[in-house]
Amino acid sequence: MRMYDIIEKKRDGRELSYEEISFFIKGYCDGSIPDYQASALLMAIFIRGMNQRETADLTEIMANSGDRVDLSEIPGIKVDKHSTGGVGDKTTLILAPIVAACGVPVAKMSGRGLGHTGGTIDKLEAIPGFNTSLTREEFIRNVKRLGIAIAGQTGNLAPADKKLYALRDVTATINNLSLIASSIMSKKIASGADCIVLDVKTGSGAFMKTLDQAVELAKAMVDIGERIGRKTAAIITEMDIPLGNAIGNSLEVIEAIETLKGNGPKDLQEVSFELAAKMLQLAGKGERSKCLEMAKACVENGSALAKLGDMIEAQGGNLGVLSDYGLFPQACGIANFIAEEDGYIHSVKTDLLGTASLVLGAGRETKESPIDYSAGIMLYKKTGMRVTRGDTIATLYTNNKEKIKESISILKSAINISQASPAQKPLILAYVDSYGVKRTCNTRC
Ligand code: URA
Repeated sequence: MRMYDIIEKKRDGRELSYEEISFFIKGYCDGSIPDYQASALLMAIFIRGMNQRETADLTEIMANSGDRVDLSEIPGIKVDKHSTGGVGDKTTLILAPIVAACGVPVAKMSGRGLGHTGGTIDKLEAIPGFNTSLTREEFIRNVKRLGIAIAGQTGNLAPADKKLYALRDVTATINNLSLIASSIMSKKIASGADCIVLDVKTGSGAFMKTLDQAVELAKAMVDIGERIGRKTAAIITEMDIPLGNAIGNSLEVIEAIETLKGNGPKDLQEVSFELAAKMLQLAGKGERSKCLEMAKACVENGSALAKLGDMIEAQGGNLGVLSDYGLFPQACGIANFIAEEDGYIHSVKTDLLGTASLVLGAGRETKESPIDYSAGIMLYKKTGMRVTRGDTIATLYTNNKEKIKESISILKSAINISQASPAQKPLILAYVDSYGVKRTCNTRC
């Protein structure tokens, strides 16, 4: 078999066999296929596309390129959840303890921030002492004992995806449905859960800017999961505005704790309960409405907050953070972003809000940049809300005061105030599973 022939075949729009895809992935991982040939094939795939069978094969081959986590020692149905990435998305910190409190084991491998989007592992590391680098034995032991553990992905989980992702990042081949779907699902499948719930975000803060694109991505990922024998369902959720009010690591953990105390922002509560209910449903706990009630009850009776406490303690974190937010890293620089005119918040470029928070230190400018866990933004005025000149739209937190001016100028370009009040959109836009797509609104919403 020759890489040249595989590139030529895809360039001409023909279907690749399992053996050809496997030849490519193995050769690229062991170094026998150079970057320039891999780039040429990626571009051919980007332009010509892959069918469902090719996409599922690519996923399985990438999932098998490294370690596969074996969760069979943990009794019960294990359900994983993945978000395609957003701004202020702290739902994992809320739904994982809820699901665990409902008796479904959560063995979750999470990632770090990517571009303007945040990552669960960075958020958890804002808790003083919290260890996200668990050994396999510690991870399994904690899930067996407490029903919950969240750890960073090991270096050898789907290494083919890691290598290919880095190449896609510099060859303008990220934004292809088959390549995104196989990249996400290869890591989920290697992580070992029986069922997978996908939170596919759409809007200005998401990789998928339109609902149609998000539905197509969700369908592709559900198809891959089902072909590989994992019960998979997706919920398409709104990301035209950050979820909740907090953006940035400590701020988001505090908001997640408040949500588990029953005091969270309504939008964050709604999306977290919906995703938790879908996880419970896939784990066989009953119909959606019953699962929603169970999820809400675990917040009302305090058992979900207690589960979060169990996890923090077991992973070396300071349990005191649940009641004393002063234990989180504190910012020395605080500034307000003030409305300069009267009107309504008409639209928000949410990816820019992520960037404004990143600039303050909440994310990484380069792979090596350290994170300022105290840095971030509290956004008080969200789309549809009325503002009066002089109102505080947001408060900025950082330890690098020199960055405040730059962050405020990004916020100015991100938030559009107008005299007309915008139409309200639902937060849950569609449900996708092996039975099909159920939209809650039309394609323009
Ligand atoms: N997240 C991933 O893990 N992979 C992609 O290709 C895009 C987003």
